[in-house]
Amino acid sequence: MARVALVTGGSRGIGEAISKRLKADGYEVAATYAGNDEKAAAFTEATGIKTYKWNVGSYEESAAGIAKVEAELGPIDVVVANAGITRDAPFHKMTPAQWQEVIDTNLTGVFNTVHPIWPGMRDRKFGRVIVISSINGQKGQFGQVNYAATKAGDLGIVKSLAQEGARAGITANAICPGYIATEMVMAIPEEVRAKIVAGIPAGRLGEPEEIARCVAFLAADDAGFINGSTISANGAQFFV
Ligand code: CAA
Repeated sequence: MARVALVTGGSRGIGEAISKRLKADGYEVAATYAGNDEKAAAFTEATGIKTYKWNVGSYEESAAGIAKVEAELGPIDVVVANAGITRDAPFHKMTPAQWQEVIDTNLTGVFNTVHPIWPGMRDRKFGRVIVISSINGQKGQFGQVNYAATKAGDLGIVKSLAQEGARAGITANAICPGYIATEMVMAIPEEVRAKIVAGIPAGRLGEPEEIARCVAFLAADDAGFINGSTISANGAQFFV
C-alpha cells in the first residue's frame, strides 16, 4: 500500500512542487488549500491529486479536514506543514492584525496540522513530520518581525517533536528555503527583490522543485535517523 502524504498549501507555490514530487515518488497525496477554488480545481485536473479546503489557522477545520482525508485515503504517514503567508511591514507600521494573521497561519497552523495526526502516527509507530520554515526564521528579515517569529518558532516545534516522537518511529524535521521563485517572492517590490537576489551567491532564486527534493529525502522510509534537523536550501545566502 502506498504511503499517504498530506501537504498543506499543497496546490500552489512550493507546496505544489512538493505534492507533485511525492506523487511521482509513489505516495498517495492530499493537498490542502485555503481559498483559491479555481486554482485548486485546475491543479487536481492537471495532476490527479485530490485537494481539500480548510483554514490551517482553525483547529476545528483542520481536525475535521484531516479526518476526511484519512477516511478517504487512509492514515496519514507523512505530513508536510507548508501553508504560510506574509504580511510584511516595518515593525513601526505593523498592525496587530498583520501580526496575528501570520501567527495563526504559520505557527498555530503547524500545531493544528500535526496535532490531530500525531496520535495515529504514535499508534502505528511510523511518521514523518516535515515543516517548511524559512531562511528568515534563521536570520530575521527587515519587514518580517511577524513572519520571522513564526518561522523561528517552527524550528522549536520540530526540535521538540523530534524528541517526543523518536521512540515511536516518528521523525520531525524542518526545511529552511531561501528565496524561491513563487508568487510570494514575486510580490516583493521589484527593486527590493533585485537587491535580495544580488545577495544570493548562487545569483538566482531557487526553484520550488529544489525544496520538494529535500522533502522527498526526509519523507523516505530509510530516513528514520534524521530527526530534529534543519535543511537549509538557500543558494549559500546564509549559514547557521
Ligand atoms: N535593510 C535596511 N533598510 C531597509 C531594508 C533592509 N533590508 N529594506 C528597506 N529598508 C529601508 C529603505 O531603504 C527605506 O529607507 P528610507 O526611508 O531611509 O529611504 C525604508 O526602509 C523603507 O521604509 P518604508 O516605511 O517606506 O517601508 P515600506 O512600508 O515601503 O515597507 C518593506 C518596506 C515592506 C519592508 C519592503 O522593503 C519589503 O517588502 N521588503 C522585503 C521583505 C522580505 O524580504 N520579505 C520576504 C518575502 S518572501 C518570503 O517571506 C519567503 C521566504 O521565506 C524567504
